[in-house]
Order: sequence, then C-alpha cells, then structure tokens
Amino acid sequence: MHPSVTPSNPPRPDGRHPDVLVIGGGIIGLVTAWRAAGQGLRVAVADPAPGGGAALVAAGMLAAVTELHYGEETLLGLNLASAERYPRFTEELQEASGQRIGYRRCGTLAVALDADDRAHLRELHALQVRSGLESAWLTGRECRRLEPMLAPGVRGGLRVDGDHQVDPRRLASALLAACERAQVAFHRTSAERLTTAGGRATGAELADGTRLVAGQVVLAGGSLSGRLAGVPEAVRPPVRPVKGVVLRLRLPDALPGGGAFLSRTVRAVVRGNPLYLVPRESGELVLGATNEELGWDTTVTAGGVYELLRDAHELVPGITELPLTESRAGLRPGSPDNAPLLGPTALPGLHLATGHYRNGVLLTPLTGDVMAKALTTGTVPEEARPFSPARFTPALQGARRAHAPQELPV
Ligand code: GLY
Repeated sequence: MHPSVTPSNPPRPDGRHPDVLVIGGGIIGLVTAWRAAGQGLRVAVADPAPGGGAALVAAGMLAAVTELHYGEETLLGLNLASAERYPRFTEELQEASGQRIGYRRCGTLAVALDADDRAHLRELHALQVRSGLESAWLTGRECRRLEPMLAPGVRGGLRVDGDHQVDPRRLASALLAACERAQVAFHRTSAERLTTAGGRATGAELADGTRLVAGQVVLAGGSLSGRLAGVPEAVRPPVRPVKGVVLRLRLPDALPGGGAFLSRTVRAVVRGNPLYLVPRESGELVLGATNEELGWDTTVTAGGVYELLRDAHELVPGITELPLTESRAGLRPGSPDNAPLLGPTALPGLHLATGHYRNGVLLTPLTGDVMAKALTTGTVPEEARPFSPARFTPALQGARRAHAPQELPV
C-alpha cells in the first residue's frame, strides 16, 4: 500500500475527504474511480456531467491491429494488452453495473479503393506481419464475398478477426452505474484549481466553492487536462484537442436477401482520409471520422459531413439510402507521441490518466488496472512504464526520484 493511502470504509457521504479525487468523469476517469473503489479506497469524482466526454462521440473500435502506425510499436503492446482484457472486463463491468456494454467480437475488414490505397494497405500488412499480428490479405472479390455491400471497385483488403468493437455510450453509462454502486461520490461541477501544500497535491477547489481535500488526485480530464489551474508547469500534461466529426445512421433490419448491411467493422483510407463504418447490433451504423487540429471548436460543418459521406459512398454506395440520425464532433485528447500519460507525476500525490488520443475506448480496461495499482502502490505495472508522464518532463528524466517536489515551479 502506498504510504499516503489509508483506505477506510464506509465512505463519508459528502465525499469531501476522499482517499482519491478523480478530476474528470469521462470513461477514463470513471474506470479509474471504479477500479480504485474496488481496492477499498474512498473515491470522489468531480465533473459537471459524468459519463460524458469524448466517449459520447467515439465509434468504439478496439482496433489495435488495424490502427497500427509506424513508430508506435510500444503503444501497440499496450493496446494489445488492453484488447485482451476486454472479455473479462466486460463480464465484470456488466455484473457490477447491471448494464450491457455492446462488446461485439465481429472483426474488421480494412479495404483499398485504388492503387495508392492498396499500396498503403500492403505497407500496413507488412508492418502487421513483422509485428507478429494476425492479418490476412484478401483480393477485392474476397472482400466483397465477406461484405457484399462494398463497392465493386474495391481492390483488396486486410481481414483482421481480432479487432472488435464496444458501444462507448453504453460503456460510459455502465461505468457510471458501477461507480455509483461502489459508493464513489460525485461532485457534479468542474474542478477549477488543483491545490498543493508542502510540495504535494492536496485536492481541488471546485466551481461551486467546495474545497476537496484528498490523499491523492488523478487528473483525467481528457482534452481539458492541460487547462487545470494550479498544476505546476513541470507536470502539466501536454494534451491538445483533436476534433473528430462522427455520423450515426440507422441500418435496415435486413437486406432483401436476408444478410446484414455490414457484418463487421469496415475501414479504408480514401484519398488519404481514414474512414470507418461500425455496424452495431442495436441497428446503429457509426461513420467516422475527421481529424482536425482546430483548438476547442466542435462545430459540425457541412464540409466535414460532405467529405465523410462522399468517401463512405465510394466505399459502400448503399449508405446514401440510410436515415442519418446524428452528426456530432468530439475532441480527442492528443499527446505529442499519440500515447497516453499514465501514473504518478513528479508532484507527489498527483497522477495523470490522460492523452489517450485515438485509443481511449480500447485502453479503458488497462487504464483502470494501471491506475488502481498506481494509487495503491505508488508504482505502475511494467507494461505501463513507457507511458509515464515523466517522459514529457525532460529536466526530471533520470533524476525524477531524487527530485525535491517543492522545487517544482508553479
Ligand atoms: N479511433 C478512432 C478515432 O479516433 O477516430
């Protein structure tokens, strides 16, 4: 047990003196709170609308293999470790919450529409094979045999049977219910300022004037994580918002021949733009996503919707027949290396769980386990060490254990 943590039950009803204060009630904050409460810690969450955040927009692909990028092999290990946890995590969360989260083992097909896309996909396939991942090259005809609604022009594709999906809205709702059942205290207002004393984080001041004193604080504010006042510059997370527009459509009950419109996630890169279609058992089809560095703007523009629909129509022409039920933009928490920041910072008492960028839903199970360990022992598991927040605190690298916390410039 970490020396600063003395778990004690039952929780105080006002949640003013928790062992752990989690700032941010999106899926990352909630899974941290739920798993920490499961370790016997008294936990409070500060968020004006817990269960909200980027997960309400996300498509929920668990795409460790099909979203692999050059130079991100270390992140691949973390993503695969979290994907492996999903079946057990789903069971535990569904049991704890009494809700289903839409985990669907449907696999993914990544296809190419022209020679450039095919060359790109060939490169991705080679990288996947070098990384020891399961991925099979298919001809265009084989792709269409699997998914008959694909355009006749599809030139080839990759069948990845291990990349599944979950419904992020259900995931958020279930995490909220599980936290409530685990007696996590919710402060439905925003945290305005981190408080510090004697060289350590001590809690936060909330927008409604409440002052919370906590044994440890977890900053899990998604794209907002870098904006909390009172966080010393040396440990402020370098997280920025990356806008994604996502559309939702309604699938037909069945095609005239009886098959499904799409039976698995279909992805493509169309003229350099990544595109995905995620069919849910609920009858929803999620279509995404733009990738825009526009600060805090969450406007859904006609141009953004047009480009998504234009590219999706090239891939699956029948899409234009479907009812469009929603268009919405969310902000991914981007970090400088596209990987999350997990665990203790150089400021004692302050942890980060943020910067998950494109992988927040995928990394939810692993993040909960990593943060519970960090909060109870002060260390993170081996697989999470490369994702220490210290990698963005160059002055402290290598010397961070010896660093006197009170020297952190505020
Ligand atoms: N992981 C999908 C996205 O961020 O758009």
